[in-house]
Amino acid sequence: MTTVPSIQIRTEIPGPRSSALVARRAAALSSGAAYLTELGVASASGAVVTDLDGNQLLDFAGGIGVLAAGHCPPTVVDALRDQAGDLLHMCAIVASYEPMVELAEALNAVTPGDFAKKSLLMNSGAEAVESAVKIARAATGRAGVLVFEGGYHGRTNMTMSMTSKYGLFKKGFGPFASEIYRIPFPNVLRRPPGTDPEQFVGWSIERLHDALVSQVDPSALAAIVIEPVQGEGGFLPAPTPYLEAIRRICDEHGIVLVADEVQAGFGRTGTMFSIEHSGVVPDLVVMAKSMGSGMPISAVTGRADLLDAPHPGGMGGTYSGNPLACVAALETIRLINTPEFLERATAVGARLRLGLEAIASRYDEVAEVRGLGPMLAIELVKDAELTPDPDLTLAITKATLARGLITIRAGLYSNCVRFLPPLSITDDQIDEALAVVAEAFAEATGDPR
Ligand SMILES: Cc1ncc(COP(=O)(O)O)c(C=O)c1O
Repeated sequence: MTTVPSIQIRTEIPGPRSSALVARRAAALSSGAAYLTELGVASASGAVVTDLDGNQLLDFAGGIGVLAAGHCPPTVVDALRDQAGDLLHMCAIVASYEPMVELAEALNAVTPGDFAKKSLLMNSGAEAVESAVKIARAATGRAGVLVFEGGYHGRTNMTMSMTSKYGLFKKGFGPFASEIYRIPFPNVLRRPPGTDPEQFVGWSIERLHDALVSQVDPSALAAIVIEPVQGEGGFLPAPTPYLEAIRRICDEHGIVLVADEVQAGFGRTGTMFSIEHSGVVPDLVVMAKSMGSGMPISAVTGRADLLDAPHPGGMGGTYSGNPLACVAALETIRLINTPEFLERATAVGARLRLGLEAIASRYDEVAEVRGLGPMLAIELVKDAELTPDPDLTLAITKATLARGLITIRAGLYSNCVRFLPPLSITDDQIDEALAVVAEAFAEATGDPR
């Protein structure tokens, strides 16, 4: 049986209607909030986006990791329609309502750890990370926060200060929040020449202990905040022994271990949360993005004693736990937290990885295909010394877009192509996307191999 391709190109991309909308956008909206493509979008379903010119594209940006359950999952849309007729907003500071309480109960059940848990609902990933820091500070009476090079935690003052990649995210925006300490992330690809990965991880753990002498005393640290798989940093999984070492340090010194699962959580790596691959249990999990299938909602879930540490009234906000966002998150959890969905997510990752590795094997420019499960990226370099190649990376993303596949970059040096397909994607759609990636490599390198 032949299937109709998902990608249908009718005009050049961007087409005239997309270009007209983007011109209005440029005139009306702040250029500080930039855009990565010139697409104007009309609608989307599953893995397919329809633009204003009638082109159909496959979406491997997934709203930057928001669409694990796909565009407009029908059960989420139905729940939103039903809820919209009953209650749009109440404000959780004023009164309580069922979807908010039910969502917190669900999050307390699905996050790692068999201890008593509570949740705090917020609107964005940055707000949730910042809330986790406030909770850790209130609980420990300490101020210090340890973070990692390459980490991304958001654009509010606190989370921007915790974020790496100065030129893109921080330039001109200081002064930054104080009491933030940053150490290298154990990036196995870029380990010193001559070391093997295991040695390097051991060496990195030693450097972590050194930092607790040279930079900050553990008794001054409220929290260690880590992405178990760095997202903006280029889909770098933290090695399990490293996460275990952090857990031991936190236990020994009463430091709160915060897993920032904003990009890697909710099925993105084939498990509900990416830290589950390591078996390490964090004290607090921060989540957002795919949690709400596109509705703005985020959460901090973890040890009940920590969540109850801040004084009443110190946390939350006007829209925190908005009823529409809550029903979207509840339906998304019902979709994702099933063995079938997570098994399929793992199968999507395996198929995608195989195809990307086949392409990578033909190009010396690929330093690595990496990630966990279906959270995959390709890192591109100029030479054997691994000099990053952001221009080739950009050229590849442009070439995939021109052929109807939306991809975006990641990495401290913007030299990774990241693949964040909706996990509801079909095998045919994955194969279609891989064919486009192969053509894009041929065009961008000028070398069809
Ligand atoms: C790991 C991580 N933390 C926090 C954030 C910030 O989330 P938001 O953009 O919703 O504020 C992001 C966003 O990309 C992220 O990837």
